[in-house]
Amino acid sequence: MTSEQTQVPLRVAVVGSGPAGFYAAETLLRSPETAAEVDLFDRLPTPYGLVRGGVAPDHQKIKSVTRIYERTAARPSFRFLGNVQLGRDLLVDDLRAHYHQIVYATGNEADRRLGIPGEGVTGSTPSAVFVGWYNGHPDFREARIRLDTERAVVVGNGNVAVDVTRILLRTPDELAATDLAGHALAALRESRVREVWMLGRRGPAQAAFTPQELKELGELTDVDIVVDPAALELDSASAAAVAESASRARNLELLREFAARPRRGAGRVLHLRFGVSPVEILVDDEERVRGLVVARNRLEARSDGSVAARPTGETETLEAGLVLAAIGYAGEPIPGVPFDPKARVIANVEGRVCDPETREIVPREYVVGWARTGPQGLIGSHKGGSAEVVERMLADWRTGQIPAAALPPRPAIDELLAGRGVQVVGFSDWKRLDDVEVARGARRGAPREKLSDLESMLALLGE
Ligand SMILES: Cc1cc2nc3c(=O)[nH]c(=O)nc-3n(C[C@H](O)[C@H](O)[C@H](O)COP(=O)(O)OP(=O)(O)OC[C@H]3O[C@@H](n4cnc5c(N)ncnc54)[C@H](O)[C@@H]3O)c2cc1C
Ligand SMILES: NC(=O)c1ccc[n+]([C@@H]2O[C@H](COP(=O)([O-])OP(=O)(O)OC[C@H]3O[C@@H](n4cnc5c(N)ncnc54)[C@H](OP(=O)(O)O)[C@@H]3O)[C@@H](O)[C@H]2O)c1
Repeated sequence: MTSEQTQVPLRVAVVGSGPAGFYAAETLLRSPETAAEVDLFDRLPTPYGLVRGGVAPDHQKIKSVTRIYERTAARPSFRFLGNVQLGRDLLVDDLRAHYHQIVYATGNEADRRLGIPGEGVTGSTPSAVFVGWYNGHPDFREARIRLDTERAVVVGNGNVAVDVTRILLRTPDELAATDLAGHALAALRESRVREVWMLGRRGPAQAAFTPQELKELGELTDVDIVVDPAALELDSASAAAVAESASRARNLELLREFAARPRRGAGRVLHLRFGVSPVEILVDDEERVRGLVVARNRLEARSDGSVAARPTGETETLEAGLVLAAIGYAGEPIPGVPFDPKARVIANVEGRVCDPETREIVPREYVVGWARTGPQGLIGSHKGGSAEVVERMLADWRTGQIPAAALPPRPAIDELLAGRGVQVVGFSDWKRLDDVEVARGARRGAPREKLSDLESMLALLGE
């Protein structure tokens, strides 16, 4: 390190307080050589990204990972600046002026679209909206989810599809004991959904869900699970894929067990259907979903060993009033941040931000988590992923590639935000909101009842 580098503390802005942002902050603060100062920004007044706004309410244990993030937040040179949106309240140039390095950890907040006729009418809902709604994300508290229908179709065979299917089928009393948002609990109590069809476009051997999640579907209270045994007969490429993967083999084993179950006349039914792709959402006179046309597929082995779905030319119609597309998430451009429109992530080379066309590195800017890789990987995977990028940041700092420029005093960013009328929410403010949520939840026997209205949250903190 140069002598300036040893004298000046490395000051870093991390944008986005999900797992990737917190793990990046922790790795920076733990680095013995830099005495780093980290300001962690989030557009919401609440931290933790998808751990709060994505992970299913009936999976509380996973959310206890936030205790690790609380330890990071307790480090003396860490600050949380919630309710500050990059691109609205702050611009990239502001961050460049106040920090030596910037880490984007903004996730993938948009949803992928089916791109078929009818998408977008009442009753056609992307999983990001449904998940955000039941998890009390402020962006989606006003979403209108159609539940006055007997049959719902969930498109996709990933773990998000499994989450939304489970939430549709759980009993209201089970949901009440979770941190499901109050408005969603009230709506789901009135739900008329009795039948859910979960559709995979390829076969059971290609499903992206994991055995633990699949197993839970077979354990739902008062739900019959229906799988056609014929759909579980494997072509040779699928059989090879199953032979290579313990997780796929376990999925198959579970599906065979489900297929062998007799119907018990349960109050609700879950159908797991494979080899069908949605082609059109049918719409009634009131511009609401009335059904989904699906194309039947056959599987085709590619030369690289992967298996693709090809339409057979046959179609069928499933009558349904709700179509939930759980087919993956995507990044959205943030003003001033280089974006790769094809991959829908922040343009980068191994976590160093770059120009999307020339691939030239943008100095002092980095990206971690889903904003870097796209929507793949579990919470724990970001620990190593963020640490790897922080190693590169520290290497750039150590070798003097980044000048240890004198920056404005640390509180100058607070003054800038105050001057713009932004009500910054610090970590202790969040802990006050946290206490309120836990107290509200206790009244219904839940771990918390979330606050989801931004204005009331800010007003409460202003009191
Ligand atoms: C529905 C769902 C359920 C999941 N369940 C599980 C599970 O049970 N177990 C598991 O291991 N993994 C689960 N995952 C995966 C896991 O949530 C992700 O791997 C992880 O959250 C991605 O972390 P991230 O930090 O990259 O992004 P995120 O967690 O999305 O965090 C991004 C943060 O950036 C903030 N932000 C975005 N734009 C801006 C901006 N312009 N300015 C300021 N802040 C901004 C957001 O508010 C957010 O807080 C689930 C994912 C989904 C979608
Ligand atoms: N409990 C948990 O641990 C948990 C819970 C939720 C999420 N997560 C994680 O979060 C990440 C994202 O999950 P995800 O479920 O959103 O994504 P995912 O795992 O990538 O699954 C997406 C699913 O959508 C299908 N799909 C994509 N485009 C489609 C189209 N046009 N028509 C029909 N089907 C289509 C895919 O099929 P193909 O395979 O054919 O492309 C796949 O089955 C994953 O890493 C997941 O494990 C974990």
